[in-house]
Amino acid sequence: MKKILHDKQSSDFQTWKLLDDHQKKIAATSIKGHFRNETNRLEYTWLEWENFIVDISKNRIDREGFDLLLELAKEAGLKDAIEAQFTGAKINYTEKRAVLHTALRSPDNSPILVDGSNIVPELRATQEKMYAFCDKVISGDWKGYTGKSITHVVNIGIGGSDLGPAVVVEALAHYENHLNIRFISNVEGDHHSEALKGLNPETTLFVIVSKTFTTQETISNANSIRSWFLNQAPKDAISKHFVAVSTNTKKTIAFGIAIENTFSMKDWVGGRFSLWSTVGLTICLAVGPKHFRDLLEGAGKMDLHFRKTPFEKNIPLVLALLSIWYNNFWNAESEAIIPYTQYLRSLPAYLQQGIMESNGKSIGRNGKSLNYQTGTIIWGAPGTNAQHAFFQLIHQGTKLIPADFIGFKKSLKGNSEHQNKLLSNFIAQTEALMNGKTKDQVKIELDASGIDYNEQEKLTPFKVFEGNKPTNTILIDKLTPSSLGKLIALYEHKIFVQGVIWNIHSYDQWGVELGKQLANKILDEIEGKNSYPHDPSTLKLLSKI
Ligand code: F6P
Repeated sequence: MKKILHDKQSSDFQTWKLLDDHQKKIAATSIKGHFRNETNRLEYTWLEWENFIVDISKNRIDREGFDLLLELAKEAGLKDAIEAQFTGAKINYTEKRAVLHTALRSPDNSPILVDGSNIVPELRATQEKMYAFCDKVISGDWKGYTGKSITHVVNIGIGGSDLGPAVVVEALAHYENHLNIRFISNVEGDHHSEALKGLNPETTLFVIVSKTFTTQETISNANSIRSWFLNQAPKDAISKHFVAVSTNTKKTIAFGIAIENTFSMKDWVGGRFSLWSTVGLTICLAVGPKHFRDLLEGAGKMDLHFRKTPFEKNIPLVLALLSIWYNNFWNAESEAIIPYTQYLRSLPAYLQQGIMESNGKSIGRNGKSLNYQTGTIIWGAPGTNAQHAFFQLIHQGTKLIPADFIGFKKSLKGNSEHQNKLLSNFIAQTEALMNGKTKDQVKIELDASGIDYNEQEKLTPFKVFEGNKPTNTILIDKLTPSSLGKLIALYEHKIFVQGVIWNIHSYDQWGVELGKQLANKILDEIEGKNSYPHDPSTLKLLSKI
């Protein structure tokens, strides 16, 4: 394998400097200006693949800038980095692990080696075990301790062990079966009490999901729920109502979960990339193995697209480069993700973990501080609701906020009147963000409304829209398990590309450790077991609890 790490600051790349100059050169040209200058603009800004259309034409970039971005990816050694990831190199350097969530959705059984061993046979066996279990629960053959079938499933987990399953279960609600699914994540007692409300222990299955099986929130919730359960059921009922997903079988056994009820996962699956693994057990219960397989199949297709497609037509890669363009050359502070469907209302929150836990790093792979921005800040909410909330700031605020608009041509329930309205908003917004509204247009409108001249003069500046706001449009046929798999995998690969170009380690998450350590100390203090020195603010806060 070629060397994929480099010792440079990425800002030392020759292309980085050229991009810096190029940004200055085209800064005064609007997106509309680029359309005027480039009669063939859609040739390179319109990407079509399978049932995806990605239109990147409404961006502050021209052909020369686009080519420079592609060149940057080459200079950063992206091609070798992609191969290293897919073939099991230990690219999670600080944890000394391979990164192979892609193996879980690989379309065939070609060997994938980790430490010289083929991981595919075991992962297929684990998948089959999960599918067989889910079939049994869904069909009602799996019986609780009083002989009744399962009606409710509660997923207990946090971070990647919650967000991935939760976002997909919500997104695929159209495909769900009769099982009623709930999620408990926060350590907050009120949250878990609410989630347990009305549950019958005889017909409830608890799925404890924790890669490490040491996470405070998950283990506290699991312990409290086990006590709640044992207040109503005998001890040997545990095996019919509690299953675990973890790499840590010692701990799952110690918790009391039978080995046959434990679904293993491997350390080469990162928490925030784990919904494709047994962490997706709750998804598989909610929609059944067929749809779960379709989800994997869709993601597998996106993997192939990412691995094999030339850079300029490679969707995750191009979107990653545009994001770098705004983050590093236009000083954009954040990006919005606006799915035009309520089914994807939690997608921005899910991607926050994926994107910000992965690329929120300030140390380069060479161990030195970086002298450029990394880690885009992601936020968003579904359209059209978002239009009535924060779109004001995107349209007329002072900040530059590039946005991804994600829409689906067909609705799932077939109400075309509503779908037409939804899609008209979807298209209108990106057009409006680009075109804005000029002073002359405002004047014509005000004239027509009959307002007197003085009043018109006063109102005009507030009604002008500067426009030139960049957007990507991702238009997909229909929200199916397969297209959802493609979409999530698209963003995963985008994260990877950005990490390579920024020269950071995207697959560790040391930044969440400090808070965990401190919380344990403070817990000791709240419970009166110990005391530690603190700053005056922390001391006073502690005295108030
Ligand atoms: O937030 C940090 C983190 O390690 C995530 O990466 C992970 O998804 C989450 O905690 C939960 O960890 P576990 O699955 O081990 O309980």
